Amino acid sequence: MKTYGRLCTQFYDLDKTDKRAQREIAFYLNYAREAAGLVLEPMCGTGRILLPLLEAGILIEGFDASTEMLAALKTKYAAKSQDEPPVWQQYVQDFSSKKRYALMFIPFGSWGLILDPQHRVEGLRALYAHLAPGGKLVMEIDMEASELEPKVNPLDKAHTRADGSIIALRLLSAYDVSSQRYSVQCSYIDFGPQMQVRSTERELLEQHLFRPGEMEKMFSDVGFSAVKRYTSYHKTPVVNESTALQIIYECTK
Ligand SMILES: C[S@@+](CC[C@H](N)C(=O)[O-])C[C@H]1O[C@@H](n2cnc3c(N)ncnc32)[C@H](O)[C@@H]1O
Repeated sequence: MKTYGRLCTQFYDLDKTDKRAQREIAFYLNYAREAAGLVLEPMCGTGRILLPLLEAGILIEGFDASTEMLAALKTKYAAKSQDEPPVWQQYVQDFSSKKRYALMFIPFGSWGLILDPQHRVEGLRALYAHLAPGGKLVMEIDMEASELEPKVNPLDKAHTRADGSIIALRLLSAYDVSSQRYSVQCSYIDFGPQMQVRSTERELLEQHLFRPGEMEKMFSDVGFSAVKRYTSYHKTPVVNESTALQIIYECTK
């Protein structure tokens, strides 16, 4: 895996602590409490959602492709428990297990990180096959409309760690309409407490942004019987799909 390296992982956890992140956790916790059985978070990253759900007593497992993201999850888990966390390294498109899940969820536009269309088809088929009858897949999808308006890049950011050192991120992004590919050149800089540069990391993060109807077709092709669409964590229904920046899909097997 070429993305989600060491500094990216550290930045990720410092960055995702705002009110939106709290709302996200509450949103998925509600789904998990309603689920009658085991929960799975594919692409679980550092466990920023999985770990609070585990702490709330939810029977949840997860997997992710990045060893750095999983290592961060394991470190956080080890601070509270001596057991091994219920997570493993895996690509969605290769997922295979004997278990069946009552709920699966993929937050935060992660699905678009699977760039190969064939891998997205294989991945969705694999998730569907591992859902119990009546089970739900909830997935947050970043839509193309989010990148069609010209905007000043608001994304350059820095965070101060507990020891006073700083990790900064500079981003240069572009969207190619013909390939529906959003590309972000991410430069991470790790500053020590005296502002000396300790290390740097560059990553090209690429994401497929979806057009209206694209996911609906995939959900129906793999066999989902019912698909609901929301634009917020309050479950506001989608009115106009072509202007929605993000859509949360709730699919039932
Ligand atoms: C934006 S992070 C989201 C992590 C977590 N779901 C959250 O909301 O904090 C996306 C994650 O997807 C993982 N990922 C990307 N492509 C993947 C694939 N094909 N299979 C499994 N994981 C993948 C990355 O390693 C990364 O940890």
